[in-house]
Amino acid sequence: MTTERATEAGSSADEQPVDSDEGADVAQGMRSMLWVDHVTVSFDGFRALNQLSLVLAPGELRCIIGPNGAGKTTMMDVITGKTRPDTGRVFMQNGSVELTRMSEPEIARIGVGRKFQRPTVFEQLSVFENLELACKGHKDVFSTLFAKLSGEQGDRIESALQTIGLADQRSDRSGLLSHGQKQWLEIGMLLVQDPRVMLVDEPVAGMTHQEIDRTAELLNSLAGERTIVVVEHDMEFVRRIARTVTVLHEGSVLAEGSMDKVQSDPAVIEVYLGS
Ligand SMILES: Nc1ncnc2c1ncn2[C@@H]1O[C@H](COP(=O)(O)OP(=O)(O)OP(=O)(O)O)[C@@H](O)[C@H]1O
Ligand SMILES: [Mg+2]
Repeated sequence: MTTERATEAGSSADEQPVDSDEGADVAQGMRSMLWVDHVTVSFDGFRALNQLSLVLAPGELRCIIGPNGAGKTTMMDVITGKTRPDTGRVFMQNGSVELTRMSEPEIARIGVGRKFQRPTVFEQLSVFENLELACKGHKDVFSTLFAKLSGEQGDRIESALQTIGLADQRSDRSGLLSHGQKQWLEIGMLLVQDPRVMLVDEPVAGMTHQEIDRTAELLNSLAGERTIVVVEHDMEFVRRIARTVTVLHEGSVLAEGSMDKVQSDPAVIEVYLGS
């Protein structure tokens, strides 16, 4: 007799090979905030992600590094529902919620927020108005601005303004902000949506040293109450915020551990840090 396990959280898809760590992975996944379970994504036969597995504990701040084309952005696309994996699944909250069965808006609503590489703030609008739009859900700029903010939404915007350090700039036109400030505004636009999981792609690209320092402080202060995945090439920055670093290479995990551990790993030096 066969047992139907397909709907059971923690079972892997039938066609996936079972390796010796499988039992440990599943046990870890059941105690996780975010669990990427053997995900493969192919574009015209090219495997951008290849049996990628990753487990994040609640409140963890995880840095993902790896060479160009390693699959870092594709991984975020899969988690947020923008790209459907060929095989494998993604779960939230101890394996109880399967994101790979949900639509992009559903995944956003359940608490997965994403900051893209390029800032997407509305430059003509003020800092406050951008936060207001993000809070209300970006449907249509005009009607959204005229919809009334609830007290709770107002509180969330105030708190985000403080956290990102732009309280004094609230009425300034966003187009006048520095590059770093625009990136923080974008992080604020995530915060007002109160996500449990935040995915942040290359937050310090193009920033000044001072802005990088401030961004490290900001992300450090957010970890703990939220689970954060940061993709970044700037190793100085990664060292400042990383507890655990995952190195991706050719769509799989090449190494994982403390910054010191991965930086001294010969395989990591060869494919990434050596260049
Ligand atoms: N929509 C797509 N169609 C075809 N190929 C794609 C698509 N998206 C990504 N790829 C390919 O998949 C691979 C992984 O790309 P991805 O953008 O995930 O890498 P990355 O690790 O984010 O790199 P970078 O550090 O340069 O941002 C690359 O070879 C890329 O060309
Ligand atoms: Mg990328």
